[in-house]
Amino acid sequence: MTIMVTGGAGYIGSHTCVELIEAGHQVVIFDNFCNSNIEVVRRIERITSAAPVVVRGDVRDRDLISATLAKHRCEAVIHFAGLKSVAESVSHPLLYYENNVLGSMSLVQAMQDVGVGKLVFSSSATVYGDPVFLPLTEDHPKSPYSPYGRTKLVVEEMLTEVAQSTNRFKIAILRYFNPVGCHVSGLIGEDPLGVPSNLMPFIAQVAVGRRPHVNIFGNDYNTPDGTGIRDYVHVMDLASGHLRALEHLSRQDFIQVNLGTGRGSSVLDLVQAFSKACGKDIPFVFSARRDGDVASYYAATDLAHKLLGWRATRKLHDMCADTWRWQSRNPNGYGIVPDQVSA
Ligand code: NAD
Ligand code: WQD
Repeated sequence: MTIMVTGGAGYIGSHTCVELIEAGHQVVIFDNFCNSNIEVVRRIERITSAAPVVVRGDVRDRDLISATLAKHRCEAVIHFAGLKSVAESVSHPLLYYENNVLGSMSLVQAMQDVGVGKLVFSSSATVYGDPVFLPLTEDHPKSPYSPYGRTKLVVEEMLTEVAQSTNRFKIAILRYFNPVGCHVSGLIGEDPLGVPSNLMPFIAQVAVGRRPHVNIFGNDYNTPDGTGIRDYVHVMDLASGHLRALEHLSRQDFIQVNLGTGRGSSVLDLVQAFSKACGKDIPFVFSARRDGDVASYYAATDLAHKLLGWRATRKLHDMCADTWRWQSRNPNGYGIVPDQVSA
């Protein structure tokens, strides 16, 4: 089938495009390239030997989306497009509500205009907020602590109500935990603009010599080694989760599912695993806790297994080895001139 992938040039979207094409689907990437580089499309083509259609456009442009869906006879949409920086969402909340909430609304309206009903939406474990219990099951209370997280929850609620109002829509809401790693080829990967705010790309840039050391935010949490614990999940496992979710929509109209491994790893675990994968010491310093961080969270994975038959299979070592292959072969990512190196 032909699938529109909004944000398909971004980190998770590009990996999912590879998975979809390799499963025999046609892909239409719809992206405004505000956080991605057109080079990724050539790389997808090198991996899959198939050229995805690319439409440069904004998800807030309802007419362009409906025209694109109709022109390419799309049967489903996977919606990655959005902004994702927690810190930026605190300083620019309206930008986040406009991109993430209005963008999703105009996408769903456009789908309704042309009668396309299958939708997979990228949500985030951030909707849960501070854990009341672990592991985080899908019915854990929702209490996001940032405007970014609240935009995800608002869209989830909007999609839930749309699904309740009609049987024309079939919707899967996927809550990702901490996506890391990249395609095993080392041809596509995560290429953040500026200083990475996430741990894995920061470690990778230290390993490749772009930054002097990792700052570990807090070593006095109530965890075995004092550093924060997260559920890191390989992006190719996430990609296969999207394919399973899409297939599942032929059997069920509405699902909300976690995509994680169910295993927590600390910051020091990740630093050590990366060091082993790249064969070098990764210098680090302990610094103050980062505002808004919680000590520990990880996913309950039973529902994903029960509904989708999906489990993450790749281990921390694969996540680090694949990231290192990408980073060492593409030290400046897709070629955007790197910012000045800073700690
Ligand atoms: P990304 O920034 O690499 O990809 C997002 C893509 O969407 C980019 O190519 C960007 O150019 C495009 N885009 C942004 N706003 C757009 C708009 N208005 N119109 C058209 N295109 C637009 O991010 P990612 O890490 O691949 O994340 C994909 C999705 O998954 C996002 O919705 C994000 O919130 C969600 N998510 C990400 C993580 C994570 O840690 N990476 C975790 C949970 C959820
Ligand atoms: C992981 C751990 C940090 C950087 C974020 C978003 C969340 C979701 C995934 C989109 C924490 C520590 C980090 C560094 C560090 N994104 N750390 N030094 O905060 O769990 O989740 O990305 O939906 O919404 O909040 O991920 O990679 O930033 O941090 O010590 O330079 O690494 O304190 O314990 P986080 P992260």
